[in-house]
Amino acid sequence: MATTIRRAAVLGAGLMGSQIAALLASCGLEVLLLDIVPDSLTPEEQRRGLTLSDPRVRSRLATQAVERLRRMKPPPLFTAEAADRITPGNLEDDLPRLREADWVLEAVVEDLGVKQDLWRRVAPHVQPGTVLSSNTSGLSIAAQAEALPAELRPHFLGTHFFNPPRYLKLLEVIPTPDTDPEVVSFVRSFATRVLGKGVVIARDTPNFIANRIGTYGLAVTLRAMARFGLGVDEVDAITGPAMGRPKSATFRTLDLVGLDVFAHVARNTRARVADPAERDALELPPYIEEMLRRGWTGDKAGQGFFKKVKGASGESE
Ligand code: NAI
Repeated sequence: MATTIRRAAVLGAGLMGSQIAALLASCGLEVLLLDIVPDSLTPEEQRRGLTLSDPRVRSRLATQAVERLRRMKPPPLFTAEAADRITPGNLEDDLPRLREADWVLEAVVEDLGVKQDLWRRVAPHVQPGTVLSSNTSGLSIAAQAEALPAELRPHFLGTHFFNPPRYLKLLEVIPTPDTDPEVVSFVRSFATRVLGKGVVIARDTPNFIANRIGTYGLAVTLRAMARFGLGVDEVDAITGPAMGRPKSATFRTLDLVGLDVFAHVARNTRARVADPAERDALELPPYIEEMLRRGWTGDKAGQGFFKKVKGASGESE
């Protein structure tokens, strides 16, 4: 079992994976940041005569994520130099490098099948004793563990960071019945001492603690808005400054988190909870479904409830 963590690998270089990589690198860790291999060339890559087999193309998503980290406001990196500790790569060519990692953390799309498939592919490449964790917003940790061989399960658990991970202190740590209690206390202590997090140990229930409450609150607000005929700005004003939150209120929070992630969390809770009142409250209004159909998933798409200025992904303005 690891006694400290010097090298981490973050799988998924999207909104959360890239910012978690930034946090870890800012705390002195060497970080390998991997994402999927693109299946088409950008116009710029075509102009430069690159092909799909070029390593620069194959690792493009993670490379661009590191560039984005340097530009984001508020900054996810404590110093600009921390970005140099992040090595971009891809999930096809670089899996053998996971052998060097003390901690492998996944932050790929919120889809159980995708995450299980990823763990199956990762398992042959990690050393016994490597901490393995998922940043899922609320999918079952135990169900992900099923994709791992029995000898790796004692080192697998949920580590749920909140967006933006540099600024939000909470970290939910979610063990499964198979997780070694020593691994839980090691992760808790490392996250507290080195990453500066406030750790809460959560049970492996649908969406754990904060999202279970938060998603319910957002869903109830969306219903109240329709009932009282309020607009987006009015709801943000009431649920923002009026409640002591500077600006990240209902719709700005939804844009920041991503409507796709919110919808996944709401559906996942709805499918797994017994209380009919909670299930009713979590039914998504038709306009959210329509926004999802249009790809208006929030800041990361440049369009959610608010338009987003290109290149500033992760800002709440
Ligand atoms: P995202 O959509 O920004 O990033 C997901 C990444 O997964 C992308 O870079 C994508 O290329 C990659 N990916 C897509 N298909 C894949 C596949 N088949 N195999 C491997 N990688 C694939 O999503 P985001 O928001 O970063 O969420 C990632 C995870 O973190 C999810 O589990 C989400 O529920 C969780 N989370 C999200 C929060 C948020 O505020 N957005 C907060 C806390 C947790």
